[in-house]
Amino acid sequence: MYRFFLLCSLALILSGTLVLDSCQHEPFLLIASNGADPTDTGGNDTTSQTDSTVILCSPDTVYFRNTILPLLVSNCSMSGCHDATSHKEDVVLTSYASVRSTGEIKLSKPRESELYKVLIKNDPKERMPEGKAPLPDEQIAQILKWIEQGAKDNYCNECDSTQAAYALNIRPIIVKSCQGCHSGTSPGGGFDFTSVQGLQTVALNGKLVGAVSRLPGFKAMPESGKLPDCDVSKIREWVRNGALNN
Ligand code: HEC
Repeated sequence: MYRFFLLCSLALILSGTLVLDSCQHEPFLLIASNGADPTDTGGNDTTSQTDSTVILCSPDTVYFRNTILPLLVSNCSMSGCHDATSHKEDVVLTSYASVRSTGEIKLSKPRESELYKVLIKNDPKERMPEGKAPLPDEQIAQILKWIEQGAKDNYCNECDSTQAAYALNIRPIIVKSCQGCHSGTSPGGGFDFTSVQGLQTVALNGKLVGAVSRLPGFKAMPESGKLPDCDVSKIREWVRNGALNN
């Protein structure tokens, strides 16, 4: 059954932009993935995964804590909406427990889950987020895929910052953390990141790396807090490689 749903959703999943890429990392793994000697960690074999705190990020899995919770927090559980105080329609989307207990998730019929259905309603009055543009297709597909994969409280923390292709690795970061402001009729700072060209402009003039690395002389982005180190590393790597539309 599980396979069946996976197959059904393959068309949606095929877009490489769905791949999870926002990973927190164990510092030594980042070093290892940059080509340094992994035995620097004290002689342990880092590839054997004996340390139970290290969880490899699989590109085929959508992780709740890495992807789904940040997405819900930034789009749904702001004050006045689905936070613990306001809990509109008794829906609270601030933690795994509250998402599972109030999101009406149906593991046997993922597409029947309220958490998913409200995102794809045609009637803007019924669709979430209320009064706003629909979530990007990539994010809607991630939510569905997470439900199809069992709606688990999962996460991963192994990062490979050399994975820095635009469609697969960079765009999901931008969609999740930047596009909310950097799109529409008056995008932040006049920079629209809905197309790769918009992002390339700030990549090539140095502002992108300056902003996400929070270097002096640049506006720190996102304003609310630094991206995970792994995301920053991937962005730097992408820019270093020429900010290609790859
Ligand atoms: C909450 C809204 C918001 C979010 C989220 C946001 N930005 Fe911005 N961004 C702005 C605004 C507004 C400006 C213009 C700031 C100014 O000029 O005072 C800006 C400016 C910038 C600049 C120009 C910086 C400079 O020094 O001139 C870059 C580059 C940028 N943003 C990248 C990003 C990236 C990358 C992300 C996601 C990781 C992001 N922003 C997330 C609102 C946002």
